[in-house]
Amino acid sequence: MTSKELRKKFLDFFKKKGHAIIPGASLIPEHDPTVLFTTAGMHPLTPFLLGEKHPAGQRLADAQKCVRTGDIDSIGDNWHLTFFEMLGNWSLGDYWKKEAIEWSFEFLTEKKWLDIPAGKLSITVFAGDKDAPEDKDSAKIWQKLGILKERIYYLPKEENWWGPAGQTGPCGPCTEMFYDTGKEKCNSNCRPGCSCGKYAEIWNDVFMEFNKTKEGKYLPLKQKNVDTGMGLERTIAVLAGFDNVYETELFKPIIKKIGELTTKNYPLPTTHYRIIADHLKAATFILAENIEPSNVERGYVLRRLIRRAVRHGRQIGIKNIFTHKVAESIIEIYPELKKNQDFIFEQLIREEEKFGKTLKRGLKQFERLAKNNKITGEKAFNLYQNYGFPLELTQELGKERNIKIDEKDFQEALKKHQELSRLGSEKKFKGGLADHSKKVTKYHTATHLLLAALRQILSSHIYQRGSNITAERLRFDFSHTAKLTPEELKKVEDLVNQKIKDGLEVKWEEMSLEEAKKQRAMGVFGEKYGERVKVYTIFNPKTGEIFSQEICGGPHVKRTSELGKFKIIKEESSGASVRRLRAVLE
Ligand code: SER
Repeated sequence: MTSKELRKKFLDFFKKKGHAIIPGASLIPEHDPTVLFTTAGMHPLTPFLLGEKHPAGQRLADAQKCVRTGDIDSIGDNWHLTFFEMLGNWSLGDYWKKEAIEWSFEFLTEKKWLDIPAGKLSITVFAGDKDAPEDKDSAKIWQKLGILKERIYYLPKEENWWGPAGQTGPCGPCTEMFYDTGKEKCNSNCRPGCSCGKYAEIWNDVFMEFNKTKEGKYLPLKQKNVDTGMGLERTIAVLAGFDNVYETELFKPIIKKIGELTTKNYPLPTTHYRIIADHLKAATFILAENIEPSNVERGYVLRRLIRRAVRHGRQIGIKNIFTHKVAESIIEIYPELKKNQDFIFEQLIREEEKFGKTLKRGLKQFERLAKNNKITGEKAFNLYQNYGFPLELTQELGKERNIKIDEKDFQEALKKHQELSRLGSEKKFKGGLADHSKKVTKYHTATHLLLAALRQILSSHIYQRGSNITAERLRFDFSHTAKLTPEELKKVEDLVNQKIKDGLEVKWEEMSLEEAKKQRAMGVFGEKYGERVKVYTIFNPKTGEIFSQEICGGPHVKRTSELGKFKIIKEESSGASVRRLRAVLE
Protein backbone atom coordinates (compact mmCIF):
# COMPACT_ATOMS: atom_id res chain seq x y z
CA MET A 1 0.00 0.00 0.00
CA THR A 2 1.38 3.39 -0.89
CA SER A 3 1.40 6.24 1.61
CA LYS A 4 -1.20 7.99 -0.48
CA GLU A 5 -3.50 4.99 -0.37
CA LEU A 6 -3.10 4.61 3.38
CA ARG A 7 -3.81 8.28 3.97
CA LYS A 8 -6.94 8.01 1.88
CA LYS A 9 -8.13 4.80 3.51
CA PHE A 10 -7.68 6.25 6.97
CA LEU A 11 -9.58 9.41 6.20
CA ASP A 12 -12.32 7.52 4.32
CA PHE A 13 -12.75 5.15 7.23
CA PHE A 14 -13.21 7.92 9.75
CA LYS A 15 -15.41 9.90 7.44
CA LYS A 16 -17.69 6.89 7.39
CA LYS A 17 -17.67 7.01 11.17
CA GLY A 18 -18.96 10.57 11.13
CA HIS A 19 -15.69 12.49 11.32
CA ALA A 20 -15.02 15.78 9.57
CA ILE A 21 -11.74 15.69 7.65
CA ILE A 22 -9.68 18.77 8.49
CA PRO A 23 -6.46 19.91 6.84
CA GLY A 24 -3.18 19.32 8.67
CA ALA A 25 -1.65 22.40 10.29
CA SER A 26 1.75 23.98 9.77
CA LEU A 27 4.90 22.35 11.17
CA ILE A 28 5.44 25.57 13.07
CA PRO A 29 2.92 25.90 15.88
CA GLU A 30 1.07 29.10 15.27
CA HIS A 31 0.11 30.12 18.74
CA ASP A 32 1.89 27.80 21.04
CA PRO A 33 5.08 29.10 22.61
CA THR A 34 5.66 25.86 24.53
CA VAL A 35 7.04 23.91 21.57
CA LEU A 36 9.22 24.76 18.58
CA PHE A 37 7.53 22.35 16.19
CA THR A 38 4.23 20.55 15.83
CA THR A 39 5.09 17.25 17.49
CA ALA A 40 1.78 15.42 17.16
CA GLY A 41 -1.55 15.72 15.43
CA MET A 42 -3.18 16.83 18.67
CA HIS A 43 -0.96 19.83 18.96
CA PRO A 44 -2.79 22.27 16.71
CA LEU A 45 -6.02 21.13 18.35
CA THR A 46 -5.05 22.04 21.92
CA PRO A 47 -7.63 24.84 22.37
CA PHE A 48 -10.39 22.47 21.25
CA LEU A 49 -9.20 19.68 23.50
CA LEU A 50 -9.49 22.19 26.33
CA GLY A 51 -13.12 22.87 25.50
CA GLU A 52 -13.27 25.53 22.81
CA LYS A 53 -15.80 24.61 20.10
CA HIS A 54 -14.28 23.38 16.86
CA PRO A 55 -16.11 24.75 13.81
CA ALA A 56 -16.05 21.32 12.11
CA GLY A 57 -17.70 19.53 15.00
CA GLN A 58 -16.81 17.00 17.68
CA ARG A 59 -15.38 14.25 15.47
CA LEU A 60 -12.30 15.14 13.48
CA ALA A 61 -9.66 13.33 11.47
CA ASP A 62 -6.57 14.50 9.60
CA ALA A 63 -3.04 13.77 8.40
CA GLN A 64 -0.51 15.92 10.21
CA LYS A 65 3.17 16.46 9.44
CA CYS A 66 5.23 16.36 12.63
CA VAL A 67 8.81 17.00 13.74
CA ARG A 68 10.08 15.39 16.92
CA THR A 69 13.58 16.06 18.12
CA GLY A 70 13.30 14.25 21.45
CA ASP A 71 14.10 10.94 19.76
CA ILE A 72 17.23 12.12 17.99
CA ASP A 73 19.43 9.52 19.68
CA SER A 74 17.20 6.73 18.42
CA ILE A 75 17.42 7.85 14.80
CA GLY A 76 19.09 5.16 12.75
CA ASP A 77 17.12 2.35 14.36
CA ASN A 78 14.31 0.67 12.45
CA TRP A 79 11.35 2.81 13.42
CA HIS A 80 12.10 6.25 14.85
CA LEU A 81 11.96 9.33 12.67
CA THR A 82 12.51 13.04 13.21
CA PHE A 83 9.98 14.02 10.55
CA PHE A 84 6.94 11.85 10.08
CA GLU A 85 3.28 11.97 9.28
CA MET A 86 0.60 11.12 11.76
CA LEU A 87 -2.90 10.05 10.87
CA GLY A 88 -5.29 10.94 13.63
CA ASN A 89 -8.89 10.86 14.72
CA TRP A 90 -10.36 12.88 17.55
CA SER A 91 -13.38 12.91 19.73
CA LEU A 92 -13.90 16.30 21.32
CA GLY A 93 -16.14 15.34 24.21
CA ASP A 94 -17.99 12.86 22.02
CA TYR A 95 -17.18 9.09 21.88
CA TRP A 96 -14.90 7.42 24.38
CA LYS A 97 -12.84 4.25 24.86
CA LYS A 98 -15.22 1.67 23.42
CA GLU A 99 -15.74 3.32 20.05
CA ALA A 100 -12.13 4.48 19.78
CA ILE A 101 -10.67 1.02 20.39
CA GLU A 102 -13.27 -0.80 18.32
CA TRP A 103 -12.65 1.46 15.35
CA SER A 104 -8.88 1.16 15.67
CA PHE A 105 -9.30 -2.61 15.68
CA GLU A 106 -11.71 -2.57 12.76
CA PHE A 107 -9.44 -0.37 10.66
CA LEU A 108 -6.35 -2.44 11.39
CA THR A 109 -7.85 -5.89 10.93
CA GLU A 110 -10.83 -5.78 8.55
CA LYS A 111 -10.12 -7.10 5.10
CA LYS A 112 -11.57 -3.99 3.51
CA TRP A 113 -9.13 -1.77 5.38
CA LEU A 114 -5.63 -2.83 6.47
CA ASP A 115 -6.27 -6.55 6.83
CA ILE A 116 -3.62 -7.11 9.51
CA PRO A 117 -4.15 -10.46 11.28
CA ALA A 118 -5.26 -9.77 14.87
CA GLY A 119 -2.62 -12.26 16.02
CA LYS A 120 0.09 -9.88 14.77
CA LEU A 121 -1.02 -7.18 17.19
CA SER A 122 0.27 -6.59 20.70
CA ILE A 123 -1.36 -4.02 22.92
CA THR A 124 -0.24 -1.90 25.85
CA VAL A 125 -2.45 -0.17 28.40
CA PHE A 126 -1.75 2.11 31.36
CA ALA A 127 -0.68 0.28 34.53
CA GLY A 128 -2.02 2.92 36.94
CA ASP A 129 -0.34 5.09 39.57
CA LYS A 130 -1.18 7.81 42.10
CA ASP A 131 -2.60 10.12 39.43
CA ALA A 132 -4.91 7.69 37.63
CA PRO A 133 -6.06 4.07 37.98
CA GLU A 134 -5.07 1.02 35.95
CA ASP A 135 -6.88 1.10 32.62
CA LYS A 136 -8.85 -2.11 32.98
CA ASP A 137 -11.61 -0.81 30.72
CA SER A 138 -9.37 -0.62 27.68
CA ALA A 139 -7.88 -4.05 28.36
CA LYS A 140 -11.38 -5.53 28.57
CA ILE A 141 -12.43 -3.97 25.29
CA TRP A 142 -9.35 -5.37 23.56
CA GLN A 143 -9.95 -8.83 24.96
CA LYS A 144 -13.53 -8.76 23.84
CA LEU A 145 -12.36 -7.98 20.33
CA GLY A 146 -10.21 -11.10 20.41
CA ILE A 147 -6.79 -9.92 21.55
CA LEU A 148 -5.28 -12.60 23.76
CA LYS A 149 -4.63 -11.71 27.37
CA GLU A 150 -0.92 -12.53 27.03
CA ARG A 151 -0.66 -9.97 24.25
CA ILE A 152 -1.88 -7.15 26.50
CA TYR A 153 0.85 -5.43 28.54
CA TYR A 154 0.39 -3.01 31.41
CA LEU A 155 3.00 -0.25 31.31
CA PRO A 156 3.76 2.75 33.54
CA LYS A 157 3.34 6.44 32.89
CA GLU A 158 6.69 6.85 31.11
CA GLU A 159 5.33 4.68 28.32
CA ASN A 160 1.55 4.67 28.42
CA TRP A 161 0.60 8.22 29.12
CA TRP A 162 0.38 10.98 26.62
CA GLY A 163 1.42 14.31 28.03
CA PRO A 164 1.79 17.42 25.95
CA ALA A 165 5.30 18.35 24.89
CA GLY A 166 5.06 21.59 26.80
CA GLN A 167 4.45 19.74 30.07
CA THR A 168 1.13 21.37 30.88
CA GLY A 169 -2.21 20.87 29.15
CA PRO A 170 -4.57 18.05 28.16
CA CYS A 171 -3.26 14.53 28.85
CA GLY A 172 -4.25 11.05 29.89
CA PRO A 173 -3.59 7.32 29.70
CA CYS A 174 -3.16 5.68 26.33
CA THR A 175 -3.40 2.31 24.73
CA GLU A 176 -0.85 1.54 22.05
CA MET A 177 -1.00 -0.90 19.17
CA PHE A 178 2.17 -2.68 18.14
CA TYR A 179 2.83 -4.83 15.11
CA ASP A 180 4.83 -7.88 15.97
CA THR A 181 7.40 -8.39 13.20
CA GLY A 182 7.78 -12.00 14.21
CA LYS A 183 11.46 -11.61 15.11
CA GLU A 184 12.80 -13.57 18.06
CA LYS A 185 12.47 -11.79 21.40
CA CYS A 186 15.83 -10.20 22.21
CA ASN A 187 15.58 -11.51 25.78
CA SER A 188 12.93 -12.80 28.14
CA ASN A 189 11.87 -9.24 29.06
CA CYS A 190 11.34 -8.24 25.46
CA ARG A 191 7.91 -6.62 25.10
CA PRO A 192 6.22 -3.84 23.14
CA GLY A 193 8.29 -0.72 23.63
CA CYS A 194 11.58 -2.71 23.59
CA SER A 195 14.13 -1.06 21.31
CA CYS A 196 15.30 -4.27 19.62
CA GLY A 197 12.93 -3.76 16.72
CA LYS A 198 10.68 -6.78 17.19
CA TYR A 199 7.67 -4.60 17.95
CA ALA A 200 6.72 -1.57 15.87
CA GLU A 201 4.33 0.85 17.52
CA ILE A 202 1.90 1.83 14.80
CA TRP A 203 -1.00 3.52 16.59
CA ASN A 204 -1.76 5.19 19.85
CA ASP A 205 -5.19 5.94 21.30
CA VAL A 206 -5.02 8.55 24.04
CA PHE A 207 -7.87 9.02 26.48
CA MET A 208 -7.56 12.60 27.53
CA GLU A 209 -9.34 13.16 30.74
CA PHE A 210 -6.92 15.41 32.61
CA ASN A 211 -5.43 18.84 32.35
CA LYS A 212 -1.96 18.97 33.86
CA THR A 213 -1.35 22.27 35.62
CA LYS A 214 1.89 24.18 36.10
CA GLU A 215 1.97 22.90 39.67
CA GLY A 216 1.92 19.31 38.41
CA LYS A 217 -1.69 18.59 39.37
CA TYR A 218 -3.96 16.45 37.21
CA LEU A 219 -7.36 18.09 37.13
CA PRO A 220 -10.30 16.41 35.38
CA LEU A 221 -10.96 17.98 31.99
CA LYS A 222 -14.32 19.59 31.40
CA GLN A 223 -14.74 17.37 28.39
CA LYS A 224 -13.21 13.94 27.84
CA ASN A 225 -11.43 13.60 24.52
CA VAL A 226 -9.94 10.87 22.41
CA ASP A 227 -6.72 11.66 20.53
CA THR A 228 -5.24 9.01 18.30
CA GLY A 229 -2.14 8.97 16.17
CA MET A 230 -1.10 6.38 13.60
CA GLY A 231 2.41 6.54 12.18
CA LEU A 232 2.11 6.67 8.40
CA GLU A 233 5.67 5.58 7.60
CA ARG A 234 5.67 2.74 10.08
CA THR A 235 2.31 1.43 8.99
CA ILE A 236 3.14 1.25 5.29
CA ALA A 237 6.39 -0.45 6.28
CA VAL A 238 4.72 -3.23 8.25
CA LEU A 239 2.01 -3.66 5.63
CA ALA A 240 4.74 -4.27 3.06
CA GLY A 241 6.46 -6.75 5.36
CA PHE A 242 9.51 -4.56 5.99
CA ASP A 243 11.10 -4.49 9.40
CA ASN A 244 12.09 -0.82 9.11
CA VAL A 245 10.79 2.41 7.60
CA TYR A 246 13.72 3.04 5.25
CA GLU A 247 12.68 0.49 2.67
CA THR A 248 9.37 2.22 2.04
CA GLU A 249 8.66 4.48 -0.94
CA LEU A 250 9.05 7.44 1.44
CA PHE A 251 12.75 6.68 1.98
CA LYS A 252 14.07 4.26 -0.60
CA PRO A 253 14.85 6.86 -3.27
CA ILE A 254 16.63 8.99 -0.67
CA ILE A 255 18.78 6.10 0.53
CA LYS A 256 19.54 5.25 -3.08
CA LYS A 257 20.61 8.80 -3.80
CA ILE A 258 22.92 8.85 -0.79
CA GLY A 259 24.41 5.57 -2.01
CA GLU A 260 25.18 7.15 -5.38
CA LEU A 261 26.93 10.03 -3.69
CA THR A 262 29.32 7.93 -1.64
CA THR A 263 32.68 6.82 -2.87
CA LYS A 264 32.23 3.59 -0.98
CA ASN A 265 29.91 0.95 -2.33
CA TYR A 266 26.25 1.02 -1.48
CA PRO A 267 24.84 -0.65 0.58
CA LEU A 268 27.08 -0.04 3.56
CA PRO A 269 26.37 -0.21 7.28
CA THR A 270 22.97 1.34 7.26
CA THR A 271 23.02 3.74 10.21
CA HIS A 272 24.83 6.57 8.45
CA TYR A 273 22.48 6.38 5.48
CA ARG A 274 19.48 6.35 7.71
CA ILE A 275 20.61 9.31 9.79
CA ILE A 276 21.42 11.34 6.69
CA ALA A 277 18.07 10.52 5.10
CA ASP A 278 16.09 11.20 8.27
CA HIS A 279 17.84 14.43 9.15
CA LEU A 280 17.81 15.90 5.70
CA LYS A 281 14.16 15.08 5.24
CA ALA A 282 13.34 16.90 8.47
CA ALA A 283 15.66 19.77 7.50
CA THR A 284 14.01 20.08 4.10
CA PHE A 285 10.55 20.35 5.63
CA ILE A 286 11.73 22.88 8.20
CA LEU A 287 13.40 24.95 5.48
CA ALA A 288 10.15 24.85 3.54
CA GLU A 289 8.67 26.84 6.44
CA ASN A 290 11.19 29.59 5.71
CA ILE A 291 13.31 28.87 8.76
CA GLU A 292 17.03 29.49 8.30
CA PRO A 293 19.85 27.76 10.16
CA SER A 294 20.93 29.84 13.13
CA ASN A 295 22.05 29.50 16.72
CA VAL A 296 18.67 29.85 18.33
CA GLU A 297 15.51 27.83 18.66
CA ARG A 298 14.17 26.38 15.40
CA GLY A 299 17.14 27.63 13.48
CA TYR A 300 19.40 25.79 15.84
CA VAL A 301 17.50 22.53 15.51
CA LEU A 302 17.75 22.93 11.77
CA ARG A 303 21.47 23.65 11.95
CA ARG A 304 22.01 20.60 14.13
CA LEU A 305 20.15 18.35 11.71
CA ILE A 306 22.06 19.58 8.67
CA ARG A 307 25.43 19.47 10.36
CA ARG A 308 24.85 16.02 11.77
CA ALA A 309 23.86 14.79 8.32
CA VAL A 310 27.00 16.33 6.83
CA ARG A 311 29.21 14.67 9.40
CA HIS A 312 27.67 11.27 8.71
CA GLY A 313 28.09 11.98 5.02
CA ARG A 314 31.82 12.50 5.53
CA GLN A 315 31.95 9.20 7.37
CA ILE A 316 30.71 7.30 4.36
CA GLY A 317 33.12 9.05 2.09
CA ILE A 318 31.04 11.87 0.62
CA LYS A 319 33.57 14.61 -0.01
CA ASN A 320 31.66 17.25 -1.91
CA ILE A 321 28.74 19.46 -1.01
CA PHE A 322 25.86 17.01 -1.14
CA THR A 323 22.90 17.86 1.09
CA HIS A 324 21.03 19.73 -1.64
CA LYS A 325 21.32 16.69 -3.90
CA VAL A 326 19.73 14.54 -1.26
CA ALA A 327 17.06 17.22 -0.84
CA GLU A 328 16.33 16.88 -4.55
CA SER A 329 15.38 13.26 -4.04
CA ILE A 330 13.22 14.27 -1.06
CA ILE A 331 11.37 16.90 -3.06
CA GLU A 332 10.64 14.29 -5.72
CA ILE A 333 8.79 12.25 -3.11
CA TYR A 334 6.94 15.29 -1.72
CA PRO A 335 6.09 17.51 -4.71
CA GLU A 336 4.44 20.07 -2.41
CA LEU A 337 7.97 21.16 -1.47
CA LYS A 338 8.81 22.10 -5.02
CA LYS A 339 7.70 25.70 -4.64
CA ASN A 340 10.30 26.21 -1.91
CA GLN A 341 13.11 24.35 -3.58
CA ASP A 342 15.32 27.32 -4.48
CA PHE A 343 15.37 28.48 -0.89
CA ILE A 344 15.94 24.93 0.37
CA PHE A 345 18.89 24.31 -1.96
CA GLU A 346 20.44 27.69 -1.32
CA GLN A 347 20.24 27.36 2.45
CA LEU A 348 21.56 23.80 2.46
CA ILE A 349 24.51 24.71 0.28
CA ARG A 350 25.29 27.76 2.36
CA GLU A 351 25.11 25.88 5.65
CA GLU A 352 27.15 22.98 4.36
CA GLU A 353 29.85 25.27 3.07
CA LYS A 354 29.96 27.09 6.37
CA PHE A 355 30.15 23.88 8.29
CA GLY A 356 32.62 22.23 5.93
CA LYS A 357 35.18 24.92 6.57
CA THR A 358 34.94 24.75 10.31
CA LEU A 359 34.50 21.00 10.49
CA LYS A 360 37.97 20.36 9.20
CA ARG A 361 39.63 22.74 11.59
CA GLY A 362 37.33 21.74 14.44
CA LEU A 363 38.02 18.04 14.08
CA LYS A 364 41.75 18.74 14.30
CA GLN A 365 41.17 20.79 17.40
CA PHE A 366 38.94 18.08 18.84
CA GLU A 367 41.64 15.45 18.28
CA ARG A 368 44.13 17.70 20.03
CA LEU A 369 41.82 18.07 23.01
CA ALA A 370 40.86 14.41 23.05
CA LYS A 371 44.49 13.38 23.50
CA ASN A 372 44.16 14.23 27.21
CA ASN A 373 41.05 12.05 27.45
CA LYS A 374 39.21 14.99 28.93
CA ILE A 375 37.27 17.85 27.40
CA THR A 376 35.91 20.44 29.78
CA GLY A 377 32.63 22.23 29.19
CA GLU A 378 34.57 25.39 28.54
CA LYS A 379 36.67 23.68 25.84
CA ALA A 380 33.49 22.28 24.31
CA PHE A 381 32.13 25.80 24.29
CA ASN A 382 35.24 26.97 22.43
CA LEU A 383 34.60 24.28 19.84
CA TYR A 384 31.08 25.62 19.51
CA GLN A 385 32.12 29.23 19.41
CA ASN A 386 35.13 28.96 17.11
CA TYR A 387 34.33 25.91 14.99
CA GLY A 388 30.53 25.84 14.98
CA PHE A 389 30.44 22.46 16.74
CA PRO A 390 27.06 22.05 18.39
CA LEU A 391 27.45 20.54 21.86
CA GLU A 392 25.71 17.38 20.63
CA LEU A 393 28.38 16.87 18.01
CA THR A 394 31.21 17.18 20.52
CA GLN A 395 29.33 14.86 22.84
CA GLU A 396 28.84 12.35 20.07
CA LEU A 397 32.50 12.43 19.06
CA GLY A 398 33.39 12.17 22.74
CA LYS A 399 31.17 9.12 23.12
CA GLU A 400 33.10 7.34 20.38
CA ARG A 401 36.20 7.79 22.53
CA ASN A 402 34.62 7.36 25.92
CA ILE A 403 35.06 11.01 26.85
CA LYS A 404 32.19 12.64 28.73
CA ILE A 405 31.59 16.35 28.28
CA ASP A 406 30.23 18.26 31.25
CA GLU A 407 27.05 19.82 29.94
CA LYS A 408 26.59 22.14 32.91
CA ASP A 409 30.04 23.66 32.43
CA PHE A 410 29.25 24.13 28.77
CA GLN A 411 25.98 25.91 29.53
CA GLU A 412 27.73 28.17 32.01
CA ALA A 413 30.36 29.17 29.49
CA LEU A 414 27.59 29.82 26.97
CA LYS A 415 25.64 32.01 29.40
CA LYS A 416 28.71 34.04 30.29
CA HIS A 417 29.32 34.68 26.64
CA GLN A 418 25.72 35.65 25.93
CA GLU A 419 25.75 38.17 28.77
CA LEU A 420 28.83 39.78 27.39
CA SER A 421 27.42 40.06 23.91
CA ARG A 422 24.14 41.42 25.23
CA LEU A 423 26.00 44.21 26.97
CA GLY A 424 27.56 44.97 23.61
CA SER A 425 24.26 45.08 21.77
CA GLU A 426 22.54 47.20 24.40
CA LYS A 427 25.20 49.81 23.91
CA LYS A 428 24.67 49.69 20.19
CA PHE A 429 20.95 49.92 20.66
CA LYS A 430 21.22 53.07 22.70
CA GLY A 431 23.49 54.67 20.14
CA GLY A 432 21.21 53.67 17.25
CA LEU A 433 18.15 55.11 18.85
CA ALA A 434 19.82 58.10 20.46
CA ASP A 435 17.91 60.30 18.06
CA HIS A 436 14.47 59.79 19.46
CA SER A 437 13.01 62.35 17.24
CA LYS A 438 9.27 62.27 17.15
CA LYS A 439 9.22 61.06 13.58
CA VAL A 440 11.41 58.04 14.24
CA THR A 441 9.23 57.08 17.19
CA LYS A 442 6.17 57.21 14.96
CA TYR A 443 7.79 54.99 12.36
CA HIS A 444 8.70 52.57 15.07
CA THR A 445 5.06 52.16 16.08
CA ALA A 446 3.95 52.05 12.46
CA THR A 447 6.35 49.13 11.96
CA HIS A 448 4.56 47.13 14.66
CA LEU A 449 1.20 47.87 13.06
CA LEU A 450 2.59 46.82 9.71
CA LEU A 451 3.83 43.44 10.96
CA ALA A 452 0.52 42.70 12.67
CA ALA A 453 -1.38 43.71 9.53
CA LEU A 454 0.80 41.52 7.29
CA ARG A 455 0.23 38.56 9.57
CA GLN A 456 -3.49 39.15 9.60
CA ILE A 457 -3.90 39.74 5.87
CA LEU A 458 -1.30 37.41 4.37
CA SER A 459 -0.28 34.68 6.76
CA SER A 460 0.47 34.11 10.40
CA HIS A 461 3.76 32.54 9.29
CA ILE A 462 5.24 35.91 8.60
CA TYR A 463 8.19 36.97 10.72
CA GLN A 464 10.24 40.12 10.79
CA ARG A 465 13.56 39.67 9.08
CA GLY A 466 14.89 43.18 9.35
CA SER A 467 13.88 46.77 9.92
CA ASN A 468 15.47 50.11 9.31
CA ILE A 469 13.98 53.41 10.25
CA THR A 470 15.00 56.95 9.38
CA ALA A 471 13.12 60.18 9.99
CA GLU A 472 11.88 59.94 6.37
CA ARG A 473 10.57 56.38 6.02
CA LEU A 474 10.45 52.88 7.38
CA ARG A 475 11.90 49.86 5.64
CA PHE A 476 10.69 46.44 6.67
CA ASP A 477 11.87 42.96 5.66
CA PHE A 478 9.76 39.88 6.34
CA SER A 479 9.60 36.20 5.47
CA HIS A 480 7.26 35.57 2.59
CA THR A 481 7.74 33.78 -0.70
CA ALA A 482 5.42 35.57 -3.08
CA LYS A 483 5.40 39.06 -4.40
CA LEU A 484 2.53 41.01 -2.88
CA THR A 485 -0.30 41.85 -5.26
CA PRO A 486 -1.59 45.43 -5.47
CA GLU A 487 -4.78 44.24 -3.73
CA GLU A 488 -2.82 42.72 -0.88
CA LEU A 489 -0.78 45.88 -0.50
CA LYS A 490 -3.95 47.91 -0.38
CA LYS A 491 -5.52 45.65 2.22
CA VAL A 492 -2.44 45.86 4.43
CA GLU A 493 -2.29 49.63 4.04
CA ASP A 494 -6.00 49.96 4.80
CA LEU A 495 -5.77 47.82 7.90
CA VAL A 496 -2.88 49.86 9.28
CA ASN A 497 -4.78 53.07 8.58
CA GLN A 498 -7.89 51.66 10.22
CA LYS A 499 -5.89 50.89 13.34
CA ILE A 500 -4.44 54.40 13.28
CA LYS A 501 -7.93 55.81 13.01
CA ASP A 502 -9.20 53.60 15.84
CA GLY A 503 -6.82 55.39 18.18
CA LEU A 504 -5.33 52.25 19.72
CA GLU A 505 -3.29 52.64 22.85
CA VAL A 506 0.32 51.56 23.22
CA LYS A 507 1.64 50.26 26.51
CA TRP A 508 4.68 48.36 27.58
CA GLU A 509 5.64 45.98 30.34
CA GLU A 510 8.92 44.47 31.38
CA MET A 511 8.89 40.71 31.87
CA SER A 512 10.99 37.59 31.54
CA LEU A 513 11.53 36.26 28.05
CA GLU A 514 9.58 33.20 29.09
CA GLU A 515 6.55 35.19 30.10
CA ALA A 516 6.76 37.14 26.87
CA LYS A 517 6.70 33.92 24.86
CA LYS A 518 3.82 32.64 26.92
CA GLN A 519 1.91 35.77 26.05
CA ARG A 520 2.74 35.02 22.42
CA ALA A 521 4.56 38.28 21.94
CA MET A 522 6.23 38.39 18.53
CA GLY A 523 10.00 38.49 18.48
CA VAL A 524 12.45 39.12 15.70
CA PHE A 525 13.45 35.88 14.15
CA GLY A 526 16.97 34.76 14.97
CA GLU A 527 17.38 37.55 17.52
CA LYS A 528 19.00 36.70 20.85
CA TYR A 529 17.21 38.25 23.79
CA GLY A 530 18.29 38.70 27.36
CA GLU A 531 16.47 37.29 30.40
CA ARG A 532 14.27 40.35 30.80
CA VAL A 533 12.56 41.98 27.86
CA LYS A 534 10.16 44.78 27.18
CA VAL A 535 6.87 43.85 25.51
CA TYR A 536 4.90 46.48 23.64
CA THR A 537 1.18 45.92 23.27
CA ILE A 538 -1.04 47.88 20.92
CA PHE A 539 -4.67 47.45 21.92
CA ASN A 540 -8.12 48.91 21.66
CA PRO A 541 -8.81 50.65 24.99
CA LYS A 542 -12.56 50.26 24.57
CA THR A 543 -12.72 46.55 23.80
CA GLY A 544 -9.37 45.47 25.22
CA GLU A 545 -8.69 43.68 21.94
CA ILE A 546 -4.97 43.31 21.25
CA PHE A 547 -3.79 44.05 17.73
CA SER A 548 -0.05 43.69 18.16
CA GLN A 549 2.30 42.43 20.81
CA GLU A 550 6.04 42.48 20.28
CA ILE A 551 9.24 42.16 22.18
CA CYS A 552 10.96 45.48 21.51
CA GLY A 553 13.19 48.08 23.09
CA GLY A 554 10.97 50.98 22.01
CA PRO A 555 10.33 53.85 22.05
CA HIS A 556 6.78 54.21 20.76
CA VAL A 557 4.01 56.76 20.59
CA LYS A 558 1.22 56.58 23.19
CA ARG A 559 -1.66 56.41 20.75
CA THR A 560 -1.75 55.28 17.14
CA SER A 561 -3.86 58.35 16.27
CA GLU A 562 -0.62 60.35 16.45
CA LEU A 563 0.77 58.63 13.37
CA GLY A 564 -0.99 60.33 10.46
CA LYS A 565 -1.63 58.55 7.18
CA PHE A 566 0.29 55.36 6.38
CA LYS A 567 1.34 54.69 2.80
CA ILE A 568 3.34 51.84 1.27
CA ILE A 569 5.62 53.25 -1.42
CA LYS A 570 7.57 50.24 -2.57
CA GLU A 571 7.49 46.46 -2.53
CA GLU A 572 10.44 44.37 -3.64
CA SER A 573 12.39 41.18 -3.00
CA SER A 574 15.19 41.20 -0.48
CA GLY A 575 16.79 37.81 -0.93
CA ALA A 576 15.28 34.37 -1.08
CA SER A 577 11.79 34.29 0.42
CA VAL A 578 12.16 37.70 1.99
CA ARG A 579 10.08 40.68 0.86
CA ARG A 580 10.88 44.28 1.57
CA LEU A 581 8.44 47.11 2.03
CA ARG A 582 9.08 50.81 2.29
CA ALA A 583 6.42 53.03 3.75
CA VAL A 584 5.93 56.61 4.80
CA LEU A 585 3.70 58.49 7.22
CA GLU A 586 2.11 61.53 5.68
N1 SER B 1 -0.84 12.37 20.78
C1 SER B 1 -0.63 10.95 20.67
C2 SER B 1 0.71 10.63 20.05
O1 SER B 1 1.34 11.48 19.53
C3 SER B 1 -1.73 10.34 19.82
O2 SER B 1 -2.01 11.13 18.72
O3 SER B 1 1.11 9.51 20.11
